[in-house]
Amino acid sequence: MKPQKTILRALAGETLPTPPIWMMRQAGRYLPEYRATRAQAGDFLSLCYNSELATEVTLQPIRRYGFDAAILFADILLVPQALGADLWFVTGEGPRLSTITTQSELDALKPAADIHDHLNPIYTTVKMLSQELPSDTTLIGFAGAPWTVATYMIAGRGTPDQGPAHALKAENRAVFDGLMTRITEATIAYLQMQIDAGAEVVKLFDSWAGSLLDQDFIDYSIKPMQQITAALKKSHPNTPVIAFPRGAGERYQGAHAAIGSACVAVDDGVDAAWVAQTVQPDGCVQGNLKSSHMVTGGDALVAETRRIVDALKGGPHIFNLGHGITPDGDPENVQLMIDTVRGG
Ligand code: CP3
Repeated sequence: MKPQKTILRALAGETLPTPPIWMMRQAGRYLPEYRATRAQAGDFLSLCYNSELATEVTLQPIRRYGFDAAILFADILLVPQALGADLWFVTGEGPRLSTITTQSELDALKPAADIHDHLNPIYTTVKMLSQELPSDTTLIGFAGAPWTVATYMIAGRGTPDQGPAHALKAENRAVFDGLMTRITEATIAYLQMQIDAGAEVVKLFDSWAGSLLDQDFIDYSIKPMQQITAALKKSHPNTPVIAFPRGAGERYQGAHAAIGSACVAVDDGVDAAWVAQTVQPDGCVQGNLKSSHMVTGGDALVAETRRIVDALKGGPHIFNLGHGITPDGDPENVQLMIDTVRGG
């Protein structure tokens, strides 16, 4: 049977007259209603683990804008926490984790099969969402790709150049590879549970893929995402995967085939016309609009949105930003983007 929902149709390779649309970080601090619910939850992690409130913030941008997809409200760093790492968020700064840089620290992590008790509230959120979403809205689950998750687990925080992860890779390949394997196994198990709970699509965020050079890009961004995609294809053959190797540049070419994903999400570092010529012939593409347009708005937002829609209209396309909307994004600019995509 052919899919009915627009996002699923685009992921199945269909070229639609108007691209379906959603937005990375669509549930987030730029929305006053998100800030209110987050205050009610207390802090960000409490919000992630409170299924009622996580469902509520996932639904907020759907109610306000009627996006074609909802993305589960959670975080890529819940998997390290489920594996036994300490995790906390420092207001105004970002995540902090206990670090993994030695064999004994790696050995102290839980086996991938033991993550589900901890992550059970997330599966409950997915179940609640699959009951509450409008019938034409697609539910997207997600996880971090192993390299990006490893960069946080090794450094214990976000880093501008992922230096600590590159250093461990160079100095102790056994621990680095062991950590990558553990994350890969846990990610497969986590996404399988999300799909069983009702996620119709899953997305892999490799936010720091761009700092992997040459063979490392293949070995540590592409291959782990390929392994996860292949495992999901085996267990859940009808669930499309969106892969987002952010910062891949020219290496977006061929990424669909190398990963085996239905869709490749592109950041704003590549030109839409180039994407249409070299990436889209291999399958659905998503992304590309600079997030800063959600801050600045105006004619430039309209012109860039039109240019991307026009460049990618000859093949399967899901409209999105090149990265997440920032807290200073203006909710009215989001509406302007949507009206431009849908209204021409
Ligand atoms: O709406 C959605 O997109 C779904 C929810 C979602 C969040 N994080 C919520 C969130 C998703 C898909 C993510 C993915 C994520 N988390 C990534 C990959 C995508 C990317 O942005 O590159 C990464 C690297 C993380 C790790 C993370 N989480 C960082 C570095 C931070 C702090 C930086 C920041 O933006 O504050 C977070 C916190 C976070 N995750 C927030 C939200 C809404 C802000 C937390 C808050 O409310 O204070």
